Amino acid sequence: MVQLNNNFLKLQDNYLFSTISKKVSNYKKNNPNKNIINMGIGDVVLPLPEVCIEAMQKAIIEMGNKDTFKGYGPEQGYEFLREKIATYDYENLPISPDEIFISDGAKCDIGRIIELFDTNNSIAVPDPVYPVYVDTNVIAGRSGNFNNINNKFENIEYLTMNAENNFVPSIPQKKVDLIYLCFPNNPTGTVLNKEELSKWVEYAKQYNSIILYDSAYEAFITDPSIPHSIYEIEDATKVAIEFRSFSKTAGFTGLRCAYTVIPNNLVINNTKLLDLYRRLISTKFNGVSYVTQKAAEALYSFDGFMQVNKNIEYYLNNAKIIKDKLNELSISSFGGENSPYIWLKIPNNMNSWDFFDMLLTTANIVGTPGSGFGPTGEGYFRLTAFNSLENTLISMDRLEHIF
Ligand SMILES: Cc1ncc(COP(=O)(O)O)c(C=O)c1O
Repeated sequence: MVQLNNNFLKLQDNYLFSTISKKVSNYKKNNPNKNIINMGIGDVVLPLPEVCIEAMQKAIIEMGNKDTFKGYGPEQGYEFLREKIATYDYENLPISPDEIFISDGAKCDIGRIIELFDTNNSIAVPDPVYPVYVDTNVIAGRSGNFNNINNKFENIEYLTMNAENNFVPSIPQKKVDLIYLCFPNNPTGTVLNKEELSKWVEYAKQYNSIILYDSAYEAFITDPSIPHSIYEIEDATKVAIEFRSFSKTAGFTGLRCAYTVIPNNLVINNTKLLDLYRRLISTKFNGVSYVTQKAAEALYSFDGFMQVNKNIEYYLNNAKIIKDKLNELSISSFGGENSPYIWLKIPNNMNSWDFFDMLLTTANIVGTPGSGFGPTGEGYFRLTAFNSLENTLISMDRLEHIF
């Protein structure tokens, strides 16, 4: 008889956002006239920058012409895009185009990358964090069972991040093979400075660990002292893989384009990780469409930079409105300055799903319960700046009426 991958059965409940969407549709069904504002899901609302539309229109014409038509592209991505990324995103950093892998999303890359590593490798994840790191490793068999008492999977090291430690996770006391770091962090919106990040690079060098650095939100960093890339830290090319995405930077959540950097220096047992990854994607992936890569390339132009900056500023302004209102209501909040996410401490010791229900039913605002991002997220709640200015203002006005 066919056997299932029983690791799936260890996963908890439904994926966070499906639970939220079920709760919201039930509420809508019973309250069809309520105007619900979604400040929960991390999806953009502004359309693609104009430069992308123009580039895609041109690319489509090329695809319709027999002389310029493109079939399968290189699995690693077209050189024209990898070159732009190396030149602009890694300006003055030791990253070359052949260390860059274009993909259909950072989520897909995060799921794929772990196939390079043995199941027995130990892992550490920030807590709270983007749930995909934990779930992909559970499916891959790199965890034990879920422990209902502490709400953690066995064999996964959770790196606590809360107000008490200023959202700076402590370095583990023992050796961990694979360490996920996500900064600016989803969901807390907090960042690590160079000194804090250097400690992780030192740790990884000492223990021969690999850091999987997710900087999907680096474009939101406004503080010039905060690193955008882990490769700003000396020797990080020896220990870190970096994930980036055009999703939140340029509104590509529906178009799909991202990239992963695997430096040449990353070598395990005489094998370059980059060669192994090339082998993996040439087996399991057929590249991102030419049209999409042309759209991404167009971002690296004067108009592209201007249009992207305008959108980021729009979201950061929303974030500021949310933070200012929370301050005014004496609700502690974190993030929101170098990130589209605002992480608030729930008042009156209410738990995060109760607070979700309360906000939905009394203010018709949807947010994300902190506990969905890890056990340390309990007691916290995530609001996002990914909404229209108008909806952000309305929802903050509603908050004022319930607090
Ligand atoms: C931290 C983090 N990494 C990666 C992703 C996924 O990005 P992509 O749309 O490129 O798959 C998200 C999406 O919300 C995210 O929050």
